[in-house]
Amino acid sequence: MLWQDSFAVGIAEIDEQHQELFAQLEKLMDAAIGDPDHVAMEEIVIFLDQYTKDHFSGEEQRMVESQYPGYQDHKEMHREFIQELAYLKEELQSPSGKHPSLTNLIGFLSEWLIQHILDMDQQMGNYLIRHGMA
Ligand SMILES: [Fe+2]
Repeated sequence: MLWQDSFAVGIAEIDEQHQELFAQLEKLMDAAIGDPDHVAMEEIVIFLDQYTKDHFSGEEQRMVESQYPGYQDHKEMHREFIQELAYLKEELQSPSGKHPSLTNLIGFLSEWLIQHILDMDQQMGNYLIRHGMA
């Protein structure tokens, strides 16, 4: 999945982190298709889990500091993504068949990220920039 200029939030640190997330999801999808490489996938998911938590914490801290009114809803969405990642980790470690296929889960995460950036993150970015907190 490739980064596009239209995904920019306007805050360099956040945009760089989003680009890294896209790159990792792309790597994960590559490892999942064809003959899935579970070892490689697990490594990427473990990295993504920590990286995403740090990234979300950074955004949440900016929202708290700027008294962003959409903070609670935004934080709730972050929790949802972390939950989906946990399903993926679970499915990789012991496939239960309860969850959709790995490629579907990764596709969902990628779509989720794009929608989240275009909606909530860009709103947050505009607010931070308007309030001189970028
Ligand atoms: Fe966000």
